[in-house]
This record gives sequence, structure tokens and C-alpha cells, in this order.
Amino acid sequence: MSADNNDVIYLKDYLPPAFLVQSVDLVFDLYPHETRVQSRISFNRNAHRDAGLPLELHGSELKLISVAIDGAVLSADQYQVTGEQLIIPNVPDQFVLETEVEIDPANNTSLEGLYRSNTMFCTQCEAEGFRKITYYPDRPDVMAAFTTKVIADKTEYPVLLSNGNPIEKGDLDNNRHFVTWQDPFDKPAYLFALVAGDLQVVKDTFTTMSGRNVALEIWVEPENITKCDHAMASLKASMKWDEEVYGREYDLDIYMIVAVNDFNMGAMENKGLNIFNSSCVLARPDTATDGAFQRIEGVVAHEYFHNWSGNRVTCRDWFQLSLKEGFTVYRDQCFSADMNDAAVKRIEDVAMLRTAQFAEDAGPTAHPVRPDHFIEISNFYTLTIYEKGSEIVRMIANLLGPDLFRKGSDLYFERHDGQAVTVEDFVAAMADASGIDFTQFMRWYSQAGTPQLTVSGEYDAADKQYKLTIKQQTPPTKDQAEKLPLHIPVKVGLLNAAGDDLPLNLSTGEASGEQGDGDRVLHLREAEQTFIFEGIEEAPVPSLLRGFSAPVKLSFGYSQAQLLHLMRHDSDGFNRWDAGQRLAIDALKAMVAQFEAGQMPELDSALIDAYKGLFAAGLEPAILAEMLVLPGEAYLAEQFDVVPVDAIHACRNIARKTLAQALSSELEQAVVANQLSGEYRPVAEDIAKRRLKNICQSYLMALETEAAVERSWQQFTTADNMTDQHAALTALVHSKQDEKAKAALESFEQQWKDDALVMDQWFQVQASRPHPDALARVKALMEHPAFSLKNPNKVRSLVSVYCNQNRVNFHSIDGLSYQFLADVVLELDAMNPQIASRLITPLTRWQKMDSKRQQLMQTELKRIAAAELSKDLFEVVQKALP
Ligand code: TRP
Ligand code: ZN
Repeated sequence: MSADNNDVIYLKDYLPPAFLVQSVDLVFDLYPHETRVQSRISFNRNAHRDAGLPLELHGSELKLISVAIDGAVLSADQYQVTGEQLIIPNVPDQFVLETEVEIDPANNTSLEGLYRSNTMFCTQCEAEGFRKITYYPDRPDVMAAFTTKVIADKTEYPVLLSNGNPIEKGDLDNNRHFVTWQDPFDKPAYLFALVAGDLQVVKDTFTTMSGRNVALEIWVEPENITKCDHAMASLKASMKWDEEVYGREYDLDIYMIVAVNDFNMGAMENKGLNIFNSSCVLARPDTATDGAFQRIEGVVAHEYFHNWSGNRVTCRDWFQLSLKEGFTVYRDQCFSADMNDAAVKRIEDVAMLRTAQFAEDAGPTAHPVRPDHFIEISNFYTLTIYEKGSEIVRMIANLLGPDLFRKGSDLYFERHDGQAVTVEDFVAAMADASGIDFTQFMRWYSQAGTPQLTVSGEYDAADKQYKLTIKQQTPPTKDQAEKLPLHIPVKVGLLNAAGDDLPLNLSTGEASGEQGDGDRVLHLREAEQTFIFEGIEEAPVPSLLRGFSAPVKLSFGYSQAQLLHLMRHDSDGFNRWDAGQRLAIDALKAMVAQFEAGQMPELDSALIDAYKGLFAAGLEPAILAEMLVLPGEAYLAEQFDVVPVDAIHACRNIARKTLAQALSSELEQAVVANQLSGEYRPVAEDIAKRRLKNICQSYLMALETEAAVERSWQQFTTADNMTDQHAALTALVHSKQDEKAKAALESFEQQWKDDALVMDQWFQVQASRPHPDALARVKALMEHPAFSLKNPNKVRSLVSVYCNQNRVNFHSIDGLSYQFLADVVLELDAMNPQIASRLITPLTRWQKMDSKRQQLMQTELKRIAAAELSKDLFEVVQKALP
């Protein structure tokens, strides 16, 4: 295994830095294998730490050439170099350190530090990658002004970029040239960036609210120059939105985005120079789906919003990661809700949270939104930090209401501009702006696990009272056996028989909102609490957790009739959708029980009627589309103590066929009615129609009638946009029409073989194909010339999609897929530990599988554990072992 307990870092051990940095001057002399980095750093001793402490700098995989203090070169006995540090005892209180190191970007496959992607040089420093570039106090609470001189061959790398503003450029001997960049804003090293390449640019400008002109530039490799328009439009919309909604203005005169092919995550918010995974920036109607367009809009906004929530106000230490990520996700979710259909955005976000974050919170790597220890921080860029972190900010925003939340965020940004702060500082600003007490609420940051609410309702006709009793309980997680009650905002309504909201007058229990409102937010604080509503004239149907007001699981003994009532009438769009999901889960669970008893599973006719009713209900296409989608296999799996993988897959398919049969005329009509003519536009209205049409067509394809197959084939061959082409390709490839599937895949490959991002989609469609030969096909595709284990997008498209979205095959009882994943993870760990440790996730989730599969999965985990591992993979495997 490797790595021992000494490598665990604890929040409680935090100490301020012994030295602060006044300014940094860097010179990069770029060569693929022998890049020289010279640094000149002025240090000051921090008065908050003991005098006489040595200077300790981080550094990893660096070849040290020279080190000098105040101009005097140090001899080897004046400093120590270990694997991760440069230590210099006996330094004055104020001095200039000069070092020179050599690094090898071309052999850097970890995609952390300075590395090569295609023909360019680029960097990724968050979280602790700057130490792979030069010796430095690589921690976010050391902030400094950077000046960066980049030198490279003028022909191969005509474009040289770094943070801030260009202040000097010129030619040098041997066909080399340089550009010097200066970033006037103090920043931590994790926000440093450098790019060099033969790039082209799309330019635009934005005038800020105070009237300053900002140059906007998107830099890409020449073949991608036609794919930048959507990202540029998204950037301008984000800048405007942050001014209007948060009063935040951009600060530098230039904002640059660079697209790179090899990138571990989605994108990175480096000051003034964002670096993006090309998949999160490049789009053209013929190459990118609606989903990709929306993701780009969200990621561009996310990185832009970090300029305030992350860069101007940053994290004191990495335990505070959710301070910037949770808040920034909340901000980008609200932005996307404003740009698109807000109810659909909420449904998508919650579906993802409940499927994937809840599973993480119930698995062996469960951790609080603010963890208290870690071995490798890269492992904590998780759904819990990002998505649950965002839900916490959303709860705070809902507790304060829009005006006080804005007051709180203004206070936070003003109070802490230029500082590296903690979660407490954020919550204190919200508390100070509102007068609300967040003492108990803070437990959301320290307690892992998804709270379970069990609710019961009791109607007293004589007293005209309705009593809601809510119990809360958070199951123990690996590191925390005991859980305390949380402060949980539970938004409720009560529907009468006509489907209208009753006025809510609360006599017992704490709630926000006004007496008589149709919606109240109950404040659950105890393990068990009763809330009493007065003047309720008839037995109501409770609508609970409206808008998903807290990231919890909620159970209430709903009857089918009650769920149907909510599905039809709830004034809360989210809960209307959720009632449909609950109905479908009940129906599918009943089918699974039949399947396991050896009977032919049959879909409850009440669900069929309910779905039929949706078409007559006059719903917007966006909502209708969402409501027609059955809960996914992964979310269904969450509903069982022992997951019946095969039964879930079989029953969901039977349910889809049954619905297709029973609703064929409605589905047909919807397909026809939602055809669009005219030019492709990635706007909410059109996206909704395409989605509805393609969902209905995919239902019809479940029956594989000749007409349905022919329509998909037609759509595949005539589509003028990737959304429709991709939907048709998926329908054909996932059908049993082997010949049509083969023909479609070949034609698609022929059409798109030179476009890496479209080929990712080609890999994904095949990796998720639910046929029994899937594993053999995935293995064969790993030999395809477009595949590379070194490119994370390819690994995600093929291996990750197979292991996460092809559940019947991944969990095949022969255990061969577990073995396959373990082999890939071991090979990858030597190249790219971050990707290896993410990829292994599905193998760590053995707890709810049957004993045979548990054993098979654990065997593979043990085999991995026996090898020499990176810190990243070690930490995950060690937690996941039985
Ligand atoms: N801060 C980035 C974001 O959320 C995340 C990120 C990008 C990252 N690249 C990374 C995190 C590499 C760890 C490693 O926008
Ligand atoms: Zn982020």
C-alpha cells in the first residue's frame, strides 16, 4: 500500500504560516523536458509565529539547481531537501530568496503542476500543484503579488500567457521571445497559471457597471476557433448577472479562458486566466448537445464567480474548501436557473444530489462538508464538498430571504476582501447581517451522512387541527458514530381536496413566513418535534420539503391516492415532480418483488393512468419531459438495503415498454408536435422541445417497432444538430437492432473521427450500451486510435461511463468487470493518481451488494491494496477495505 498514518493532516493542527510573502518574481525558460524556473521571493517573518523558526518550503519532483539568500549562494550544508520540502534554518526576519529548479513537463502525466497538453504548455496548481513548479509556501493563506516572465521558442509558442496584465514583451536570441505578466492582486499559489502555445483567440469586451472596459479572450488551438461563441456569450451573461444579483464587478482589465484537452477536472479559476477542460468550453450546434451547451454555461459562470467567491476572498486552509466551492456552486445554480427553466434546473440538481451525493454520504468515503482530516486533498473535490455544500448555502439563503442574504454576502465580501478565511467567517457574516443564530446550524458542516426524516400526520376533525410530527436521525458514518440533531428547514404546504393550498396557522412549533401563508418553513431542531396547524377544515394532503428545502431523505406513509393528488395539484413544481418519482418508485419496487418471486412483473395501472394524465395536464414541455422520466437505476438502487441489480434493470425496462405500449398515441403526438424547424438555438424553450421529443421517441424505441426504428434512423441521418443526432444514435445503439446500431456507429465515427470531443460521445454511447457483450466492447475500444489512458476525458467516457452507467454489466456476477476496473486503476495510478482514485469509486460501493458480489469486489480492492500506491489511491482504498 504505502503512505502511513503520519501522512494524515488534521484541521485541529492548523497553524498560521511562519513566513509571509511580500512579492514573487518568476522566470520560466520553457523546454519540453528541461524547463528552468527561477524564482525571487521576498519573505517576512510572521509576527504570529515564534521567532527563529526555519523557512520551510514545499517542493515536489524538482531538481534544485541553486539557492541563495540576499544574493549569497547557499552551500549544501546550509539547507535540507526532502521529498516534499526545502528547509533553511537560520534565516533573517526579512530576506530575498532566489532559487532555480529544473522540471520535466513532457513527462508530467499527473496533469498537475506544469505539463504538456497536445502542443502546448499549461498548468494546474489547485490544490497543491504549485510545489511541482518551484519551492514555495504552497498553502492558500500565503497570498502574494506575482510577476511572471515566460520565455519560449517564438515559432512553436507564439502565445505566452500568465495571470494579470502583460507589462513587457520582446525577442531574444535563438528564435526565442518573452512576455512578462504582472498580477496586482495578492493571491495564493494555487491560483497561479501559465500557458504557452500556438493558439488563436476570439475577442470581445465587457463594460462593467462602473464603466470600465474589460477585454475578454478565449484562446484555443486553431481547429477549435469556431467553437467559442457560446462560452463567450455565457461569460458576458455571468459578468452581468454577478453585478446585478451580488453587486460584484470584475477587477482586472483582461479576462482570459484557455481550452486544453488534457485536464483532470472541469475547469480552473486561476486569476484572470481560467484554464478549461475543452469539454467545458467548446461547442457548436453540430458538435455539442443541449446538455453540453448548458454545462458550458454553468461552468463558465462557476469559474467567473470564483473571482469573488474564491479569489478575492479565499480559503484559509484546504479544510475550508466548501467555503469557496459550496458557495460558488450555489451561485452558478442560481445563475443557470435564471438563464433557463428554474424548476427543471432544480429537479436536475436534486436528482444528481440524491443519486450520487447521498450514495457518497452512505459509503466508505463519507465525510463532512468541512472534513477534519485528510491524507490527500485532491480526494476531497467531491459531491459532498460541492453539491451538499451548495445545499447548505441554499438553506442559509432561504432562512435569510433574498434581501438579508444579499446584505450578508455584501458584508462577507467587504469584511474579508483580500483575506484567506474560514467557514465560520462566512456564517458569521450571514448571522451579523440577519440576527439569526446559526449555532446549531453549524453542525451541517461537521456531520457527515444524510439525515433521515420520518414524518407522520394526524388530523383531528373535532378540533380542526392537523398535527405533523417529524423525527430526524442521521445514520452513523465511518468516522462518526454519534450524530446530533440538526437545524433543518422543512418547507411545507397542506392541500385540500380541491388541490389548493390551505392557509397555515401554526399554534405549536417554530416557522418562518407569515401566519395564513400557503407555504411555511418549519424549523426542526429536536430529534422529534410536533407542529400543529389550526383551523384546518378537512383532512389535508401534506406537501413536504417543498423545493427540496434541505438535503435529507424524507419518508411519510403516503397512499397512492395522496401521491396522485400531489402529482396533479401541488403548487410547488418540484414536489409535483417528486410525487411522480415516489409513485414510480413504489410501482417499480412492487415489480422487483414480483420478479424476485419468479413472477412476471407487471406495472401498476395507476401509474400508467397517471402518466397518461400528464399529457392532458397542459404542462410546459420542459416539465412534462422531466415528469416522464422514470427514476434511474442508480437512484432505484438507493431504495434497497440489498441492491437487486438485475431485477431493477429488467423491471425498469418492462415498465418502459408497458408505458410505451399504453401511451403510444400520446407519445407519437408529442414527437410530431415538438419537431422544431429553423436554425438551432440553445435556448430553454427549444431545449425543452427537443428533450421532450427525444424522450418520447426513446419510449417508442423501447418497443422497436419498424416505424420507430425508421424514425430514429431518419433523425440520425438528417439531424442538423448534435442533440438530435446523438439522441437518435443512442436510441439505435441501445436497441437490439444490431445492424442499424453498427451502421450508425460507423457512420458517426467516419463523420467525427477528427473531433476529440464528439468521439468522447461515441465512446460513451457504446460504454453505456446495456448488452451482454459490453465489457468485451469496452476492452476493444481501449485499443481504438482515438482512445488514450493518458487523456482523462477518454478514460471518463469509456471506463467511467461503463462502470457507473452500465450497472447490469458492471455488476455482472462473473466479477470480470470488477477485475477489469481494478486492472485499469492500477495501470492509471502510476500515471495520474487523481484520476485513478476517482475512477475506483464504483468498486468501493460494495456495502449494499449481495454477499457474492461483495466478496468479488473486496477481492479486487485487496489486490489493489497489495500494490505500491499513490497517496490518492491509498487513502480511498484503505477506507473502502472491509
Ligand atoms: N477549483 C476548480 C473548480 O471547482 C476545481 C479544480 C479544477 C481542481 N482542477 C482541479 C481541483 C484539479 C483539484 C485538482 O472550479
Ligand atoms: Zn469551483
